[in-house]
Amino acid sequence: MEATKTKYSADGMARLARKAAAEGIVLLKNENNVLPFDENETISVFGRCQLEYYRSGTGSGGAVNVAYTTNLADGLKNSNKVKLNEELYNTYKNWIKENPFDNGGGGWAAEPWCQKEMPVSYEMAAEAAKKSSKAVVVIGRTAGEDKDNKAEEGSFYLTGEELSMLQNVVNAFENVIVVLNVGNIIDMSFLQTLSYAFRIKAVLYAWHGGMEGGNATADVMTGKVMAQGKLSDTIARSIEDYPSNVNHGGDLKNIYQEDIYVGYRYFETFDKNAVMFPFGFGLSYTDFEIAPGECYTRLRNDKPELVIEGMVNNKGTKYSGREVIQIYAEGPQTKLGRPAKVLVGFKKTGVIPPGGSEEFEILIPFSALSVFDDTGITGHPNCYVVEKGDYVFHIGNSVRDTKVMLVDSRAKYHIGETEVVEKLNEAMAPIESFKRMCPGEKKTDGTYTLEYENVSLKKNFLRDRVLGNLPEVIEYTGDKGYVLKDVADGKCTLDEFVAQLSNEDMATLVRGEGMCNVKVTPGTASAFGGVSDRLLDFGIPIACCADGPSGVRMDGGFKATQLPIGTALACTWDPDLVEKLFTMQGKEILINNIDTLLGPGMNIHRHPLNGRNFEYYSEDPLITGKMAAATVRGIDKNGVFATIKHMALNSQEHNRRKIEAVVSQRAIREIYLKGFEIAVKEGNAKSIMTSYNPINGYWSASNYDMTTTILREEWGYDGLVMTDWWATMNGAIDRGEDSVKHTADMIRSQNDVYMVVSNNGAELNVNGDDTIQALEEGRLTVGELQRCAKNICRFLLNTPSLKRVGSLRNQIPFMASEKTGEAGVQEIAKTPRVELGNAKEPTDRWFYCDRERIVNVVVKIMYDHSNIAQTVCKASLNGKELNIFQTNGTDGNWIYQKLLRVRLEEGWYHLELEFPKPGMQVAYMEFVSEN
Ligand code: BGC
Repeated sequence: MEATKTKYSADGMARLARKAAAEGIVLLKNENNVLPFDENETISVFGRCQLEYYRSGTGSGGAVNVAYTTNLADGLKNSNKVKLNEELYNTYKNWIKENPFDNGGGGWAAEPWCQKEMPVSYEMAAEAAKKSSKAVVVIGRTAGEDKDNKAEEGSFYLTGEELSMLQNVVNAFENVIVVLNVGNIIDMSFLQTLSYAFRIKAVLYAWHGGMEGGNATADVMTGKVMAQGKLSDTIARSIEDYPSNVNHGGDLKNIYQEDIYVGYRYFETFDKNAVMFPFGFGLSYTDFEIAPGECYTRLRNDKPELVIEGMVNNKGTKYSGREVIQIYAEGPQTKLGRPAKVLVGFKKTGVIPPGGSEEFEILIPFSALSVFDDTGITGHPNCYVVEKGDYVFHIGNSVRDTKVMLVDSRAKYHIGETEVVEKLNEAMAPIESFKRMCPGEKKTDGTYTLEYENVSLKKNFLRDRVLGNLPEVIEYTGDKGYVLKDVADGKCTLDEFVAQLSNEDMATLVRGEGMCNVKVTPGTASAFGGVSDRLLDFGIPIACCADGPSGVRMDGGFKATQLPIGTALACTWDPDLVEKLFTMQGKEILINNIDTLLGPGMNIHRHPLNGRNFEYYSEDPLITGKMAAATVRGIDKNGVFATIKHMALNSQEHNRRKIEAVVSQRAIREIYLKGFEIAVKEGNAKSIMTSYNPINGYWSASNYDMTTTILREEWGYDGLVMTDWWATMNGAIDRGEDSVKHTADMIRSQNDVYMVVSNNGAELNVNGDDTIQALEEGRLTVGELQRCAKNICRFLLNTPSLKRVGSLRNQIPFMASEKTGEAGVQEIAKTPRVELGNAKEPTDRWFYCDRERIVNVVVKIMYDHSNIAQTVCKASLNGKELNIFQTNGTDGNWIYQKLLRVRLEEGWYHLELEFPKPGMQVAYMEFVSEN
């Protein structure tokens, strides 16, 4: 069927995805140079994931239909470098046939974190050891949307089966290599607790590398690609060591007590001993020396800029490789406490041959030394300041392995007077008191005693700011005959165009429809813009957005290329490579008539158990921002757009619509918004999705300070903002209860589009949202609604959807009849309803249409699950796809959905239902005739 064909894959995209997946693999240990494998070695591979490779996590970020996938065992076999222990390989193949992959029934968030492992006895391992001297043990994990990891066996910890497999393998083999096919960091204590653990000579975090990840892992192990990835997170000895551990995973509230001390910022400042593998660490197959050359300051735009020059030398004699030069700043503890080290710059070299060298230059802006004063203690409240004192720069290839660099020939870079770098506003401040971590006395080992201080609370209330800043109303003109394209052609201004729209038009415009809307590419997340005939008449196109982030999700069955997960990409430390890869991704988006990809995901890895960490990059905001900016630049080059998400603090999946982040302004700015700021300022991001959760009392979808004060006023953003799907909002000024109906507060905050109401529900206001009512009651001004309408239209003007607009108006798919049908059928003229008997498994029916009719197709469906779950059903007529319809859990209630209008000719129709994801029940499908 047409819908299952790969529409397009940019030339070389899979090849580049393979390179990126390989370059993001992190080698944590490689004793006796056990890797890369020697020519013609025979390898025994244990663990079912050698064949059942996890290419991604679960949920919307993992749901890419791929044409093929790869796995490690076959990748090694096809490498032509090593041989596999075929007997063991076949044992696994046969065992998997008997013990197939358990997807938990295929429902939303139902897939378990890991799969049952084949028991490996000592005898079996010893038998394998007769055939090969090296063993590989593959451990796999998944997690995802609505499914956080847990500190349990099978999730964060290894299972008993896995431990026993590993134990028997190390008992039998001298040289064991552990490959972790995971989306998140997992517990690594087995490296210390297992007896004979010293026989684990190598450990690779292979992550989820997308559809080419199996090949990519083999590439690194065979030395086709040199190991070069560096951790974008700290691996601590125990889960309890992470400073957010006590406050992660709550039901309604998480206090961000660790403040800015996330990841290495905490460990380097307070608890160095808790670290097993430091941030930025990763081995290569050769040895590099980073030789700092000249480091000097110069003026750029009247501000000093640090220029670091130097040389990287490959000291090895056998292997080439690439190294990452990392620069960390250590600032003074003047008045504001700060982390012992902060990453301020990095650069990855090219491939350096053995004995070879490469010069580098890294530029660090003065502002990289600044911190946000949210207390006013420096005398500069709500400013980024570079405090007076001494700054030391450390250069190295991990946060731990560094040396001090001389700047302008001195060991310390001295700032005589505290300088204000940026004067900003109090925004998003906490409304409840709590204590946050801060450094106390410096200890002899260079760390600090851990102390706590009160956060400063909100002083400036929003009312005056919101109401004092209302946009002017553009006088309503009615239809002047302008279409949106006239703005692009200079025939009218955007204001003149928007002046034509009635309040109802604009209230419709701010509603996106979805998922699986027939008005756009099948099976995608939303259609927005021209969602009514009136809006289409104004030439407002229907734009399409699709998940993201690592490949295009088209539940309709179109195939797409699945890329490595965000964490793997971050571990390449190579924004240039990421930009190239996403330039190709942009082509795939364009060719599928999609205007914006719902990605990259760029929340901070606050805690290892967050189920969606795989979609995100790092615990560090600089890496996060640089990777996201590169992704945005790559995608946007094609005239389509990336949507950076989820702004902000979507740090856990459990109760993600309600869990409130209670957090200081400083942590918000320096950690959780910093990546977004970089993506906006350096990547020129034009589309943003907000998160579900409230932050200091205000839900993200109606958070004026976040999406107006900071994003638009301080950062100068003029793009589009959308909510996450089925988001809730509370009062933009007075807070109160959250609801899907509070679109007036969303609009007031300049969160432009509500995602999503059900298909064909925008014009009808099926959610019963309060936009029009709020205008009538004076809780929202027309100017504010026009401001969002302008933000949306400005965005649409630059999307490919504008070129499609002419073809969409009143487009009705036509369905031809079958010549013959079955007896005992239902006739559409008399009984437009085709009863489906609460079908939940593939089924079919025949019906007859008595003459040519235009019909509205309506279904009655139910999904006995809560609304966090999603499922789809696919309907075909006479072998041609009619519609894919989607629903969230309906808690067992039957609901109706109007799917589409379609023209049927007279004759027989064969209706078939398929259930690509289980759970939905279909009572009937009704073809309501218009003529
Ligand atoms: C997710 C988003 C996703 C959207 C559309 C939401 O549930 O949080 O990341 O883009 O659904 O699938």
